[in-house]
Amino acid sequence: MVQETYLNKKARESEIPESFVYGGIPEEKPDEKKIQENKFSELDRYINLYKKEPGQLIIILQKAQDIFGHLPEEVQAYIAEKTGTPVSEVNGVVTFYSLFSTEPRGKYTLDICMGTACYIKGAQELMDTLKDNLQVDAGETTRNRLFTVKSTRCIGACGLAPILVVNGEVHGNASSGEGMKIIQKYRKGEDSESKKH
Ligand code: FES
Repeated sequence: MVQETYLNKKARESEIPESFVYGGIPEEKPDEKKIQENKFSELDRYINLYKKEPGQLIIILQKAQDIFGHLPEEVQAYIAEKTGTPVSEVNGVVTFYSLFSTEPRGKYTLDICMGTACYIKGAQELMDTLKDNLQVDAGETTRNRLFTVKSTRCIGACGLAPILVVNGEVHGNASSGEGMKIIQKYRKGEDSESKKH
């Protein structure tokens, strides 16, 4: 039997429970609750600022992802309620755009373009190499929360295929060997940062 998710249920019922706003995050320590409240207050400011503008939903979701680090169902439902948008529509936008994530991400997001040009030039090999090395599947985050590996659609830089994007920085001609060098560079940067502290 297919299990009904929270969002499915809310979309069906077309209502958000009052307890959801802060009460939806159970068993938190008091300071964590306060942090969470502050995040929702910050989100409220952006919602009030943008909710009347065209294309507001994507802007608000981007802000929410900056604030929370990802877009769990609770945050999606909150935005739906505050903007008067059906939960199913909010969830549709979140799942359509690869820049949004419903799971916590690592410090560095490795987006491998799987568009046709990149695929022909070895994107799958690059993906497999990074997954093997980091011991994760596509969409997952390493245990140390340093890297998240994802696939993305064509980003319009096909002449430089295959493409690896790290936190928005585009690396062209990213063969699997080049991809390994790139992640080593980020690892080294982390090592030297941690030695400073
Ligand atoms: S197919 Fe990868 S950038 Fe176009």
